[in-house]
Amino acid sequence: MTVRDTTPADATAVYRLLTGFATSHRPDRTVFDDVTFPRIIEAAAAGRAEFLLAEHDSRVIGYLLALRLPTLFAGGTVLELLELTVDAAVRGRGTGSALIRAAQSRARAAKDIEVTVPTRRAADFYRGLGFHETAAYLKWSTT
Ligand SMILES: CC(C)(COP(=O)(O)OP(=O)(O)OC[C@H]1O[C@@H](n2cnc3c(N)ncnc32)[C@H](O)[C@@H]1OP(=O)(O)O)[C@@H](O)C(=O)NCCC(=O)NCCS
Repeated sequence: MTVRDTTPADATAVYRLLTGFATSHRPDRTVFDDVTFPRIIEAAAAGRAEFLLAEHDSRVIGYLLALRLPTLFAGGTVLELLELTVDAAVRGRGTGSALIRAAQSRARAAKDIEVTVPTRRAADFYRGLGFHETAAYLKWSTT
């Protein structure tokens, strides 16, 4: 299994994984193709995001999206992990861990101060990779 940067050619594979991951919003392929996917590719190219793919035998089996946020409180950038999913058929084989370790090493290379992740589904998974609880995460929706 290898971890690499996502490219525009990976759109269909990422969309397939996204439809299994998203719970609070239903993905729309037109919005994905025209707006969200290219915007994230652009952010990653500019160093404002990490958009990583895990691949096995030329098949995409997981992706990770994290945004690099400038902050005052931390005295530098914080890498916030927003999306991580592994194909249900191959979970429990180290793919999620490999994606997180790759993001952690990108964070070190970029001199981010910390990596954060809001999650309610997989806290123990993150604890196993060195994360600890620090804050509650609240949400206000515009719609
Ligand atoms: C969470 C997820 C990305 C983990 O990917 P994975 O490839 O299965 O993870 P790994 O095989 O690297 O697992 C590493 C360890 O974490 C544990 N683990 C995996 N998923 C877990 C979860 N949801 N909750 C608690 N522990 C979990 C594994 O059992 C394993 O433990 P071990 O080292 O004692 O064997 C994957 O289960 C997934 O896509 N879940 C649905 C989407 C999701 O919840 N994403 C995270 C939201 S931010």
